[in-house]
Amino acid sequence: MLRICKQCIQTQGSKITSVIVGALLLVTLFYYFKDFSDSNPKPLQVDVSNNRRYIKSSSRSLPHDHPSPKCERNISAEHVKNFPSLPAIIKDILYYRHCRHFPMLLDIPDKCGGANESSDVFLLLVIKSSAVNYDRREVLRKTWAKERLSNGVWIRRIFISGTMGTGYEKKKLNYLLKLEQSKYNDILQWDFKDSFYNLTLKQILFLEWMERNCPYTNFLFNGDDDVFANTDNMVLYLQNFKRIGGRKHLFAGHLIYNVGPIRNPQSKYYVPKQVYESESYPAYCGGGGFLLSGYTALVIYIKSHSIPIIPIDDVYMGMCLAKAGLRPEHHLGVRTAGLYVPGKNVDVFDPCFYKEMLLVHRMLSGDMYTMWHRIQDPDLECATSESGKYLNQFWL
Ligand SMILES: *[C@@H]1O[C@H](CO)[C@@H](O)[C@H](O)[C@H]1NC(C)=O
Ligand SMILES: *[C@@H]1O[C@H](CO)[C@@H](O)[C@H](O)[C@H]1NC(C)=O
Ligand SMILES: *[C@@H]1O[C@H](CO)[C@@H](O)[C@H](O)[C@H]1NC(C)=O
Repeated sequence: MLRICKQCIQTQGSKITSVIVGALLLVTLFYYFKDFSDSNPKPLQVDVSNNRRYIKSSSRSLPHDHPSPKCERNISAEHVKNFPSLPAIIKDILYYRHCRHFPMLLDIPDKCGGANESSDVFLLLVIKSSAVNYDRREVLRKTWAKERLSNGVWIRRIFISGTMGTGYEKKKLNYLLKLEQSKYNDILQWDFKDSFYNLTLKQILFLEWMERNCPYTNFLFNGDDDVFANTDNMVLYLQNFKRIGGRKHLFAGHLIYNVGPIRNPQSKYYVPKQVYESESYPAYCGGGGFLLSGYTALVIYIKSHSIPIIPIDDVYMGMCLAKAGLRPEHHLGVRTAGLYVPGKNVDVFDPCFYKEMLLVHRMLSGDMYTMWHRIQDPDLECATSESGKYLNQFWL
């Protein structure tokens, strides 16, 4: 928020403006805290008094406004059991897991029209995308992630990214993102290494940004840049959820439970005891894509302050939910493990399947473009239309 106002002061250069802006900022902060306390959830087991304290202190420290000092490696990490025998990547994780603040290279503080106005955003699409995935972003902007009014409510889009490579390669990719930003204004980029094992960090940085810039956003879709998301269906589902009312918490996707950390060092998902002690993970939703309420996103952010980072980002979200006493839920329309097509001789690209889904994992850019247009076709006839079957389900 401070950042926006610095800009307006600079561009308008008048003292009066800065007084007005300062006053507005105070009012905004006042309503922010007032609003949050007004909206205390009754049926949830969240320790709200605690939450409020966290939110206030984290908002006040405003780490983004001070160039964060370079995060130093934690030498004490070498004291964990059997440190020398751990793979290099795990050593790296242990050395740097406490680092949670990185400077922003690309920001869009007014994406939601300002913090207080962010309730105008019904669905914020938050898409994890690495700098190199230029073609995917191009297709998403033209298809399901298009910023638009859908059934009367606003969909907004943000790609979240870190940096890749070093030296010239890094500069080149940063420049690419900057060019895209000047045209589309839809990228948040932080100066950290964008790797599979840093996805949790990316999530936390986003949530911190959201708390600052879009705290009243109604709902968020959080997902990968290679999924097919039927965002119009998401809006219908969420509008129905809102209409039914009764609770603020929502976290829905492909539910995974009764699993634990993989202790095999060869696996991409390897997590040794030194990083995560317990043999079981709490229930969580597969990271390919899930829907959550703005309320739940803020609760997750608050809880994340006191949970050490583990490199598996979707599990980490589950850990934050568990700590808040909130549950993730399964939604049949989210197929992050691929689409189950009943029967053989069926066209796996039958648009009728995609028309009633919320999300299907992994689709090539060209297929994405084609499918999005096919499901928009008013002449598309789906014989046994089961539409609505997946849209209206609730596990309350
Ligand atoms: C902030 O939003 C609330 C409603 O959400 C509104 O009542 C209030 O006037 C707004 N404050 C400012 C400064 O715009
Ligand atoms: C550094 O690592 C040690 C051992 O894992 C841990 O106890 C300590 O809290 C870490 N320090 C920071 C600043 O995270
Ligand atoms: C995560 O990002 C930080 C900052 O760029 C980097 O030091 C660290 O090596 C990265 N961790 C992994 C596991 O890639």
